[in-house]
Amino acid sequence: MQGIGTDFQELTSYTRKNIGGRGLDWSRKPPVFKRYEAERISLPTPEIEGGTPIWQAMQRRRSFRDFSGSPISLKTLAQLIWATQGGTAVAGDTLFRTVPSAGGLFPIETYLVINRVEGLDPGLYHLFLPEWELEYLSPGNYGRSLAEAALGQGMMDKAAVDFVWTAVIARSAWKYEQRAYRYIYLDAGHICQNLYLACEALELGCCAVGAFFDSEASQLIGVDGKEEPVIYMAAVGKKT
Ligand SMILES: Cc1cc2nc3c(=O)[nH]c(=O)nc-3n(C[C@H](O)[C@H](O)[C@H](O)COP(=O)(O)O)c2cc1C
Repeated sequence: MQGIGTDFQELTSYTRKNIGGRGLDWSRKPPVFKRYEAERISLPTPEIEGGTPIWQAMQRRRSFRDFSGSPISLKTLAQLIWATQGGTAVAGDTLFRTVPSAGGLFPIETYLVINRVEGLDPGLYHLFLPEWELEYLSPGNYGRSLAEAALGQGMMDKAAVDFVWTAVIARSAWKYEQRAYRYIYLDAGHICQNLYLACEALELGCCAVGAFFDSEASQLIGVDGKEEPVIYMAAVGKKT
């Protein structure tokens, strides 16, 4: 089998011959955060004690798709966001987080489609991490449109919140060039696994979503799909 995937794997391989001489142009390092001019909503301080112990959470974790349609609290949402992107240390312009990232470049941006969260109007939000706040990008029933963009997966409309992860390619490609794509996908996987485990700790349902019409998803979130494509999503909600 030969195709774009196998070509990509081959063409982005490190070899002992091509590994040298990769200097970094620090003057061209892209901004580490994306900020929108939008209404700003402070997130509550996340609760990071208690819940299902980690070993049990790993043992019990399962993809869940049959959400009850009940709301979650803003405090719970903040816990989930913290699990996926919470800042835990600072060094220079790098905010280290609950998740690892290749080269500490953190190319993944978090958008939230809020369907049922107490204290938040339904709509599209973006996480502005340095200030631990949400940017309210646009009101509306995004859940339904997101479900359509996700090949008709109705759970995205029934979920309390959908996480939509994009990648700012330049942030990672600045260092890794085309190999950046490998790391971006890996970064996204780490983020989603933390979300799964946090949901398990809070007895919420969670399901990863990799099946979506790429350009429809990008359009809905308001990203260009090339410099910043949608990479991955997850639906989260109450089980009963
Ligand atoms: C990269 C990725 C993409 C996925 N995409 C979807 C999806 O679009 N829809 C869905 O219902 N489940 C999706 N899943 C969930 C898988 O179906 C699920 O993880 C798998 O069946 C194993 O079941 P478990 O998670 O309950 O252990 C995805 C999982 C991964 C890791």
